[in-house]
Amino acid sequence: MDRFSLKITRRRLLAAGLPGVLVLALSGAPVRAGTPAGSGPVRYLDPARAVADRVEDLLARMGLDDKIGQMTQAERGHITPAEITRFRVGSVLSGGGSVPTPNTPRGWADMYDGFQGAALAAPLRVPILYGVDAVHGHNNVVGATVFPHNIGLGATRDPELVRRIGAVTAEEMAGTGVDWNFAPCVCVARDDRWGRTYESFGEVPALPSSMTTIIDGLQGGTLGGPTSVLATAKHFVGDGGTKDGDDQGDAVLSEEELRAVHLPPFREAVRRGVGSVMVSYSSWNGVKMHRNRRLITGVLKGELGFSGFVVSDYNGIDQIDGEPGFTREEVATAVNAGIDMVMVPAEWRRFIILLREAVEEGAVPMARIDDATRRILTKKVELGLFERPMADRSRLGGVGSAGHRALARRAAAASQVVLKNENVLPLKHGGRIFVAGRAADDIGTQAGGWTVTWQGAPGPTTPGTTILEGIREAAGGSAEVTYDRDGTGADKSYDVAVAVVGEQPYAEYQGDRVDGLRLDETDLGTIGRLRAAGVPVVVVLVSGRPLDVTSELPGWDGFVASWLPGTEGAGVADVLFGDTAPSGRLPVTWPRDAGQEPINEGDGQRPLYPFGAGLTYG
Ligand code: GLC
Repeated sequence: MDRFSLKITRRRLLAAGLPGVLVLALSGAPVRAGTPAGSGPVRYLDPARAVADRVEDLLARMGLDDKIGQMTQAERGHITPAEITRFRVGSVLSGGGSVPTPNTPRGWADMYDGFQGAALAAPLRVPILYGVDAVHGHNNVVGATVFPHNIGLGATRDPELVRRIGAVTAEEMAGTGVDWNFAPCVCVARDDRWGRTYESFGEVPALPSSMTTIIDGLQGGTLGGPTSVLATAKHFVGDGGTKDGDDQGDAVLSEEELRAVHLPPFREAVRRGVGSVMVSYSSWNGVKMHRNRRLITGVLKGELGFSGFVVSDYNGIDQIDGEPGFTREEVATAVNAGIDMVMVPAEWRRFIILLREAVEEGAVPMARIDDATRRILTKKVELGLFERPMADRSRLGGVGSAGHRALARRAAAASQVVLKNENVLPLKHGGRIFVAGRAADDIGTQAGGWTVTWQGAPGPTTPGTTILEGIREAAGGSAEVTYDRDGTGADKSYDVAVAVVGEQPYAEYQGDRVDGLRLDETDLGTIGRLRAAGVPVVVVLVSGRPLDVTSELPGWDGFVASWLPGTEGAGVADVLFGDTAPSGRLPVTWPRDAGQEPINEGDGQRPLYPFGAGLTYG
């Protein structure tokens, strides 16, 4: 069967609606093997050779199927090791919460090595990249150190601390084998109603730009170090500027504003050598970013000189034509726009077929396929994956180590922003303290979304120290600390009452707020009981963004924005008791109410608290 009749057969089968894998099987598509590594001097496997030389040698040995395989990223639950070998798939990901059983560091290393071993069983032995969202530590893994989310790190104004966090995150990833982090999000959150506000370091471009130091931490001075992982600047571009904070919505902006506000963090990430960039689901002036060739190829790769590779978002190409699923036209449009690797979690087989057809039809030039493959292979060689493809199990013991948690505690403390203090803070060691609130004794709540599961969840989801446990530890042995979730039992006999309240975990569009930003009835009831007890009240707000507290604030004696501090709640207590002086400053403007959104520094509005606000102790 020649290639022409093969193509017709495949198309007829596809037209008949047969699933891709059946089409491949029925049409007998010879997944053309590349030139086996055994023939000729294998330059690409020689670490002494220059990266470019190795890449060109490998590229020359590749057939079209090998190259398309490198451009394909499948989700771990939708592909087997044998399929990785057969289809030469170049990357696998864990979507948020997609974890091995058992979800332990060793369980991850076993899973990773299983997939990697399959990739190395293919003729050319090209290792996979395995990607996860380790957006605040290796957060999918139970037992990993979970750091404050980016909005809290923005409040620290400490790029060196953030670099260290990147380095520790990479160390914990290396033990499990995972070598690609879909982080940092360098988005500039302009409307706090956006469900991903907490993934932003702040509302002005200078803040996310300054925190791109995390890329140095993740990747190391140069890729290829013993704990280097590939970092990803995301989501390109303007995801934090959509109308009404609508996640995956439309950023209606002039090019001048897009360049002034949303582009600078990507410029800085590219300057720091970020290895990959992820395209945003959102649109710019009605054009989906996943099809925007001028910005991806023209600006990112051309003007900014980005030499890494561009990856789509999860099923991002499905959204190009506004219809469910993806077509050959959408595949061609995305690849021609400059997307080098496509995240097609389940439909990866159909992607492979359609991209091959697009190339055979001339809709995607071979030069584009070679450019994309070259970019991907270059990062794999630079990372040292050909020399060290398997998990570094010597580092498994470091996952969630005391030293890493100490850094997370320090970061949690540095992220606290004291916004009101009527002589009630710092709390007295040894005093009688009443603690209330559903966020006080809940690791899952204080960690927020992207923690063990995609959306996160309340409860003891992973080891750590709750804020209440931190308060008990800091108060000292002579203190009396009473906890009641609802605030029942508080009375004048206590020196102070601390209400730890705020948002339940969420991620992405599920966190979009279209109903205002007020505290919910549960939290308002808790605070009300404490105030009725006639005791000074300190509110500690655990949230991914500013909330509307204006009408309640006069009744509070103290107010601390805690953000989403992660697993080390003792860091919050360190500041409440003054064992660490408060130093956090608002990374976003705090609105009087949601009606002021979007509200940002310099826009002429009168906020409740301005960008940069934060008290210290006298
Ligand atoms: C998600 C997010 C992106 C993440 C990707 C893989 O939908 O938009 O930030 O990296 O899918 O989980």
